[in-house]
Amino acid sequence: MKLFNQDLPRGSSMSYAGLLERLEILRSTLRWAHSLDRPDIEKLLRQANAVRDEVMQLSHKERFIQALGSEAAPRPEPAPGERRAALLARSFVFEGTFGDNPRLLDALEIAEKAAPTDLPVLVDGESGTGKELMAKVIHANGARADKPYISVNCGAIPESLIESELFGHKRGAFTGAATDRKGKFESAHKGTIFLDEIGELPLQGQVKLLRVLQSHEIQRVGSDETIAVDARIVAATNKNLRQLIELGQFREDLFYRLSVIHVTLPPLRDRKDEIPLLLAYYGDEAAEALKRRPVGMTPRLRAFLLDYAYPGNIRELRNLMYRLACLAGDTADLPHLPEDLRPAAAQAQDAPAASSLPPPPPASLAEAKRAASDEAERACLERGLKDVGGTVAELARRWDMNRSHLQILLKKHGLHSKDFRRH
Ligand SMILES: Nc1ncnc2c1ncn2[C@@H]1O[C@H](COP(=O)(O)OP(=O)(O)OP(=O)(O)O)[C@@H](O)[C@H]1O
Ligand SMILES: [Mg+2]
Repeated sequence: MKLFNQDLPRGSSMSYAGLLERLEILRSTLRWAHSLDRPDIEKLLRQANAVRDEVMQLSHKERFIQALGSEAAPRPEPAPGERRAALLARSFVFEGTFGDNPRLLDALEIAEKAAPTDLPVLVDGESGTGKELMAKVIHANGARADKPYISVNCGAIPESLIESELFGHKRGAFTGAATDRKGKFESAHKGTIFLDEIGELPLQGQVKLLRVLQSHEIQRVGSDETIAVDARIVAATNKNLRQLIELGQFREDLFYRLSVIHVTLPPLRDRKDEIPLLLAYYGDEAAEALKRRPVGMTPRLRAFLLDYAYPGNIRELRNLMYRLACLAGDTADLPHLPEDLRPAAAQAQDAPAASSLPPPPPASLAEAKRAASDEAERACLERGLKDVGGTVAELARRWDMNRSHLQILLKKHGLHSKDFRRH
């Protein structure tokens, strides 16, 4: 039989129209095929998989916003604040999420559309980007808002207990199961179950979860009885699930089931425009919590905080503001930052707050040269330590230097290798 033998035409920008066209070609190939042998089936499967992967990769906007018809006439970008105001006008519950960044608003608008449905939602994003907050937003904006919201951290439960935690157990099912116990799914009946760190769920638990998603029934560990559960699932991860799938650590079918709606939260470094707002908000919150006046900031600390990359995202920013509120007097400065942030912050890390003044001019040319050379040496040591994650022996090897000489230089500059260890 003659199969459509060229590569399927690729949608110019992976648009819906392009994908639909490719699906139609696949359908017509199948419709007109008299018989299919194994290689043909495999070829068609590959083509279907490619289309499916592209559908899954479509950005939220394309999948949910344009699909709802707004793509017909491209509208001008709304002014900042307009989209948030529109959400507010539609009585959207923000649960304390704020910011006007377009990518965050994309996520909130998807949440708004997803909330009234029972479709599973997968939220991903780096640590501290607000995944749990987003799960609460989805719950709060849906019809289940006044029903239970049950949160399970799949990464925090020992592998041997996870099934009993999720699905419950029957008395005597295993040593220590002294009574019948219901699991989180049953507790979330009619409400929402938030499966945090879903990437940590062991494979066996993944199989069971898949079954629940398909049948809406659970079985307690050690019991044959099936119990109907109606729980809306929101899952979250800071892992790359596609990568885990390739490593054989996450089931592909479960991934597609969970990510019917897929929301990715942007890291804070990609929405730096919101840092001033977050600093002000969490500065006030910390002051209130610690029952003190909000602390001021020196210009250099403020400049640092506005530009810092925040690997721990909003949680890190929030914690920093609490720390500053606790440690500083009226005005916080660079030395109030945690030690491991300070080396990158400025050379003057241990100087007293008053040292925001520029350093005094050098007494001579020789003095200026020495200071510049010291500064370069220190910067080079910091950079080197960062690159090797604080392993002095490795740095000595890379630079072909005597290790004890390197130690002396570190001591001279007051640098501690442990401050550069990766956690
Ligand atoms: N857009 C936002 N506006 C205000 N605060 C936010 C926002 N997003 C997150 N936060 C705050 O940041 C902190 C971390 O949020 P959350 O616990 O939801 O992150 P997470 O992605 O689940 O983190 P992890 O991966 O470490 O579990 C919380 O205090 C939350 O209130
Ligand atoms: Mg979380």
